[in-house]
Amino acid sequence: MTNGDLLRQLFRGYAMHDDSAFRSAASELIQEERIKNHRLLADDLERILLNGTGHRNGKPNNVSHYEIPKDRERGFPLLDITESPYDWDRLVLPESSLGSLKQIVREHRHKDLLVGGGIKPTQRVLFFGPPGCGKTLAAQVIAGVLSSPLAIVRFDAVVSSYLGETAANLRRVFDFIQRGRWVVLFDEFDAIGKDRDNVFEHGELKRVVNTLLQLMDAFRGESLLIAATNHEKLLDKAVWRRFETVVQFPAPSVQDRVLMLRQFLRGFDCSLLNIGALAKQLADATGADVERFSIEAARLALLDGRTQINKGDVRTSLDSYLERRTISRNLTPAKTNRHTTGKRRQVD
Ligand SMILES: Nc1ncnc2c1ncn2[C@@H]1O[C@H](COP(=O)(O)OP(=O)(O)OP(=O)(O)O)[C@@H](O)[C@H]1O
Ligand SMILES: [Mg+2]
Repeated sequence: MTNGDLLRQLFRGYAMHDDSAFRSAASELIQEERIKNHRLLADDLERILLNGTGHRNGKPNNVSHYEIPKDRERGFPLLDITESPYDWDRLVLPESSLGSLKQIVREHRHKDLLVGGGIKPTQRVLFFGPPGCGKTLAAQVIAGVLSSPLAIVRFDAVVSSYLGETAANLRRVFDFIQRGRWVVLFDEFDAIGKDRDNVFEHGELKRVVNTLLQLMDAFRGESLLIAATNHEKLLDKAVWRRFETVVQFPAPSVQDRVLMLRQFLRGFDCSLLNIGALAKQLADATGADVERFSIEAARLALLDGRTQINKGDVRTSLDSYLERRTISRNLTPAKTNRHTTGKRRQVD
């Protein structure tokens, strides 16, 4: 569409109260400005469209101005758009992983310095590590510190049983994110990004992975794309190569678990507890486990009318953690096979 046509559509949309025509013309105009390299204007227009102000910290709640793409057959939205309140202090990670995340944020904050030198900030990032170790949380923290809306791609909606629809949904997702500036999280990315040569996969899945790779290559938008997986061994080399930065989210060390316990139990009196010994007893616990343990202990204390956590609360919560750990160890192979065979293995 020419610029004149876009302006006509914009005015017509406004005059006729046709919100969808207005939004699509406005989004296209922003994209045009971006192509012309008028990035400051494009950013400002985008923020105004998003939150009604040109300010970075304006509430970006007015996401209804963007038409969130849906799965055509079932009508499910393909993305969830949220705002994140989190900051760095929420995240406990090894220095190397935290350093990589902070570097990505620095690049996006000072994008203009990089672009001035002809370099783009890191745009495709892979998070990998076991479940419950902070991958989704880290994406929320990055969105929070960048004051960017977080767009989480919903693979349950993207993956369709209709032939060709999954690839079409992926295209809709990329068309959408191309038009704005988001932190985009492809959570459980391996649900579609796994090894293309896997003998269990049928043709449709291979096509989908190819489409995904092409879309990532062709992506020229401003957003930061984060893919998260806990099955990194299932991703083939072609997928790994697409990512400029790869960040590991290992299970927390004893020292990390101490920091997490302090964080999750802040506001409670822990003077009767030996936090260091407790962190050791929570052997193999992920961040999610430490959080669940802490909530359970805190709940027991509160129900008893206390804000002091005592040894009984800890013992009960520790027992239930150990029980859950035994169950989940038996279930792990079934979870690993969930995307390859489509069947759940029986628990022995
Ligand atoms: N490294 C961490 N630092 C602080 N809190 C953590 C960390 N890891 C996990 N948690 C706690 O556990 C919760 C769940 O973690 P999160 O959802 O980020 O895990 P995940 O790695 O995305 O898991 P999955 O692979 O199953 O999606 C977080 O909301 C947080 O409260
Ligand atoms: Mg996650």
